[in-house]
Amino acid sequence: MTPADTTITVLGAGYVGLTTAALLAHAGYTVYALEPNPERLDVIKQGKSFFFEEGLDAIIKAALDRGTLIPTDSYADSVPRSHIVFSSVGTPDNPDGSSNLTYVFAAAREAAAHLAPGSIYVQKSTVPVGTGTRIEAVFTELGASIHYVSNPEFLREGTALHDTLYFDRVVAGGNDSQAVDEVLAVYRQLETWRDTIATAAGIKPTTQTGQYISTSLNSAELIKVTANAFLALKISFANSIAKLSDEVGADIVDVMDAVGADKRIGRAFLQAGRGYGGGCFPKDVSGLIASGLDHGVELEIMHAAQAVNSSMPGYIVEKLLTSCDGNLSGKKVAVLGLAFKAGTSDVRRSPGIALANTILRTGAQVTTYDPQALGEAEEKLHDGIVQFDSLEKAIAGVDVVIIATEWPEIIHYSAQRYAEAMQGTLFVDAINHFDIATVQQAGLRYIGVGR
Ligand SMILES: NC(=O)c1ccc[n+]([C@@H]2O[C@H](COP(=O)([O-])OP(=O)(O)OC[C@H]3O[C@@H](n4cnc5c(N)ncnc54)[C@H](O)[C@@H]3O)[C@@H](O)[C@H]2O)c1
Repeated sequence: MTPADTTITVLGAGYVGLTTAALLAHAGYTVYALEPNPERLDVIKQGKSFFFEEGLDAIIKAALDRGTLIPTDSYADSVPRSHIVFSSVGTPDNPDGSSNLTYVFAAAREAAAHLAPGSIYVQKSTVPVGTGTRIEAVFTELGASIHYVSNPEFLREGTALHDTLYFDRVVAGGNDSQAVDEVLAVYRQLETWRDTIATAAGIKPTTQTGQYISTSLNSAELIKVTANAFLALKISFANSIAKLSDEVGADIVDVMDAVGADKRIGRAFLQAGRGYGGGCFPKDVSGLIASGLDHGVELEIMHAAQAVNSSMPGYIVEKLLTSCDGNLSGKKVAVLGLAFKAGTSDVRRSPGIALANTILRTGAQVTTYDPQALGEAEEKLHDGIVQFDSLEKAIAGVDVVIIATEWPEIIHYSAQRYAEAMQGTLFVDAINHFDIATVQQAGLRYIGVGR
């Protein structure tokens, strides 16, 4: 089948699904983006994304205008026409940390009622190992003759288009090798268009060459959660050593820079700071722990990663309290950066929000600012925290500044300008970005993590 004859449906037009749908709609396919949430669907129909992701709005609009991207909330209108259906519905965590697969199974059941025989159902959502086998059983039970392929997603919010076009690897696993190959062929097709799409989106093309990896179904599922768990582990490892650095007067930035210079280790994800957050790492770690237990395997190392991570906002606030005689009551504290990382408006499990809420409990007056996440942060910030629509307003006359997210606007604002705007002198660099000497020369007291 050529792309021109192939219609694709993407179930769940969230961070992953909308990105995938918009990109494939520029690679020769006709793509339905199926989204049941009416507010989200409305925004997409206007040619926009409901979240901030660089370059995405431009390609959504262009594909809508061209008629290759069709937003819908109807399975009946989209799925029967599609040879390939990608599922990218949410997989939040249950209160016990295990993966909540309600949406995954609801989407599979609903799709099964509409899928054409012989079509391919591709799981992009992050699911515990063994889920695909259970979904195949559902298809069999419902009499649907469908090929199932696991194709985990590795994009990062903030660089989602780049990551999808210039990927490190595409992984696909399943019991039907032809279906697996067909899914990989979709990405090969996308690769042939990638520079054109990148240019349309305003993203810089690169020469990155990625790998196509086909595996068994269970291996593909395990690859995704293992990759995220390992990255989370690296961050928590760096934060553990940061706590020791604080005790012995070492600088974790120097330590990890030199440790990471070893090619066997690498520098990525060894930055100590306020810990990881977002819609993936926390739930993927707890999901892996729960999945291990389901199979009688205790993943102690991941419990440790989790415990270190959840200690970090409190650890940073304790360091701050120590610097002001244990009393922040009545002090004005600005927390800068509420998105869980730069480049996105996503505030799920955001460390910046955890810091702001923890500081409020000390009796301080908390102001905040984020270039993109003010709207999404609103309901997660505790009553009494004031959001400002500019960095300058948030820091005017404050006693303490806390840098929580690496937005360019926040980290390129000079220490001197922070010092001039503040009334006090405490500068908490919760992402270990700033040069200590420069901050001190501006007359501020530097507090980092492991520095
Ligand atoms: N966000 C990321 O950076 C990222 C990266 C890699 C993998 N993932 C994984 O991809 C999956 C999706 O993540 P996300 O961040 O895009 O989630 P999301 O919550 O932004 O999007 C999921 C969408 O699915 C829709 N939905 C729910 N039930 C549905 C149904 N029955 N049929 C169709 N649509 C339905 C929701 O309305 C929502 O818009 C998750 O498993 C996540 O772990 C996410």
